[in-house]
Amino acid sequence: MKFKALILVLFLFTQNLTQALADEGMWLPILLETLNEDEMQSMGFKLTAEDIYSINHGSMKDGVVLFGRGCTAEIVSDQGLILTNHHCGYGSIARHSSVDNDLLTDGFWAMSQEEELKNDGLTATILVRMEDVTAQVMEFIEDGMTESERQAAIEKASNKIVAEATANTHYDAKVKAFYYGNEFYLFVYEVFEDVRLVGAPPSSIGKFGGDTDNWMWPRHTGDFSVFRIYADKDNKPAAYSKDNVPYKPKYFFPISLKGVQENDFTFVFGYPGTTQHYTLADGVQQITEEENPVAISLRRTRMDIMEKYMALDNATRIQYASKIAGVANYWKKMMGESKGIRQWNGIRKKTAEEEEFEKRVQANPELKAKYGTLMAEFDKVYEEIRPYNAAFNYFFEGVWSIEALKYAWSFNNYISAAITDPNSNELPRLKEDLEKKMEGHFNGVHNDIDREVCGAMLAELEGMGKDFLPEYYFTLKDEYKADWNNCANTIYENSYFTSAENNTKFFALKNKKIKMAAEDPMYKLATGFIGIYLTKIQPGRAKYEAKLDSLYRIYVQALSEVFPEKRMWPDANSTLRVAYGKVQGYDATDAVKYDWYTTLAGVIEKEDPAIADYYVDEKLENLYYSKDYGMYADSDGTMHVGFIATNHTTGGNSGSPVLNANGELVGINFDRVWEGTMSDLMFDPNKCRNISVDIRYVLFIIDKYAGASHLVEEMKLIK
Ligand code: ARG
Ligand code: GLU
Repeated sequence: MKFKALILVLFLFTQNLTQALADEGMWLPILLETLNEDEMQSMGFKLTAEDIYSINHGSMKDGVVLFGRGCTAEIVSDQGLILTNHHCGYGSIARHSSVDNDLLTDGFWAMSQEEELKNDGLTATILVRMEDVTAQVMEFIEDGMTESERQAAIEKASNKIVAEATANTHYDAKVKAFYYGNEFYLFVYEVFEDVRLVGAPPSSIGKFGGDTDNWMWPRHTGDFSVFRIYADKDNKPAAYSKDNVPYKPKYFFPISLKGVQENDFTFVFGYPGTTQHYTLADGVQQITEEENPVAISLRRTRMDIMEKYMALDNATRIQYASKIAGVANYWKKMMGESKGIRQWNGIRKKTAEEEEFEKRVQANPELKAKYGTLMAEFDKVYEEIRPYNAAFNYFFEGVWSIEALKYAWSFNNYISAAITDPNSNELPRLKEDLEKKMEGHFNGVHNDIDREVCGAMLAELEGMGKDFLPEYYFTLKDEYKADWNNCANTIYENSYFTSAENNTKFFALKNKKIKMAAEDPMYKLATGFIGIYLTKIQPGRAKYEAKLDSLYRIYVQALSEVFPEKRMWPDANSTLRVAYGKVQGYDATDAVKYDWYTTLAGVIEKEDPAIADYYVDEKLENLYYSKDYGMYADSDGTMHVGFIATNHTTGGNSGSPVLNANGELVGINFDRVWEGTMSDLMFDPNKCRNISVDIRYVLFIIDKYAGASHLVEEMKLIK
């Protein structure tokens, strides 16, 4: 007995130890003081939770920006200057690029504020405050509500809370669910709409290593770009105008030139998008063994086609640069994730946790009464949802990647309205909207690529299974004897929706003739697939997702009762979070250990004329050989490029400030290491590392490489 107790004490002790070093979690800024401050300080943090998030005075949270919809940026000057990743600014940089003025390839530096470039649709969002509104939401929820009644009640409560929070202000607000709807928080934001491009390194620096190195360490990417937030005269958000002025922030981050050392405390403050770390073994199995492999294959097929045409001419390369980057990024991520779960026994570990849960529940009558059948219910729902998830995956990754199909579908309201009533006075307005979209659509799509993608996808979509394929699919299969390329060629020649020329003919049709479009082959494919999606896939998934959601809500609640010793954190949901950890290398695989930083020497080492991703330009090479690093060199004399740490991050954390114990900027987060890519599902403290570009490399490129020292002068440097 005594021995057992000792083991238990030891076990808890080591658990705590590993927990202190484990660094798992993405924490809510307003809960840091209660949950994390002590631990952060014991790991080296020299400030307080109040310095990170305060409602009473300017604090770090006022310097963190949700950049666009899926990235983070940080304010680094009193004139609204912000830093984010090159891959976050990529779409904007591409939109300003042309064959003759290729900012992607050559980089861009505004040498004065007049030269900064506007970006339609790009926003910079700053959190004003957040608040726990669980009690207010719960007032609307009654025991015994069905899942959809519960959802409706939450929506009603959220609308009320949002309306109150934004009354008489220019603010935006949102209520978000945490812990699968066990808790709710309100977020009030200020959204800036005039965000200008200030600078970007050439892709040979900003995207150095490209997809070859993506999701991997050792890494040598100078993954940063520079923007500026503009506001009106009163420092309020305003649409783009020449009269707007640089935004005066409540806070901006000082930048440390001292670099980091192994085991230094760091934290990452940003907007992680989605994690699913409570997912049970069954769910992890479906994602990593069933869904990812299909998505990986469909994406590879698409990318091969895109790459083929992108290599043929420069205009296509620029046109598809941003698109293929998006496809490639999660293509590789899914490979790393599936591999990591397999390699580090993710399913076995999750199963063991579930068995321990079950054991404790069954051993305690009170818990058993509440949670005794939970695991069995999960099993059942996971079986039921499987075919719908599989079909959805094919739909999203396959059907939805045929751009002409999506485009044809956007005509659905118009065509349906014309069929119901060719004299409807709705028609001119609907038509006008569509005509406005036409040019943009055909500018963004390369017809040969889309046609080949269509043929290839139709072939692979057979895997969706009879139950989820529309009848028209089989008609075409018979007609073309499963020669899907031939089928796609014919469709693209004849459809109203596959070229600007044909589309113009469609717009010229008299109202009475619009109904002919219902027989258009691309339109029929669109309505066939989307019809099945809307009537079968989506409702099936929604039904079982709702069941899963309510089971997970109970499960997460149960976890806190069954494992009271565990500190819990809510999955990422695109809200502002803090992750903290230490600068550290890792044991990658058997016999392979990685160091915690990379240097410019590694860029030169990687250079390879045969691999486009490893191109290094002469200017950078010269700086390397002359060792002209100025104040940006490390104390060891080298130019540090990247470093890794144990901060728990995910997609959306790109561009996040990486801060030292004093809250000074030491890096910009941009990726994770290959062996730890599975951290959205399972965080392994021995494998998971976030990758940052060293802030000194960023400044070195801005100053020494690009000669944009006026930007560095705007910043506050800590030497
Ligand atoms: N993997 C990083 C992230 O998830 C960087 C992506 C950059 N894109 C690329 N295709 N290389 O966004
Ligand atoms: N590159 C990712 C992003 O765009 C961040 C890396 C990650 O997913 O951890 O947000």
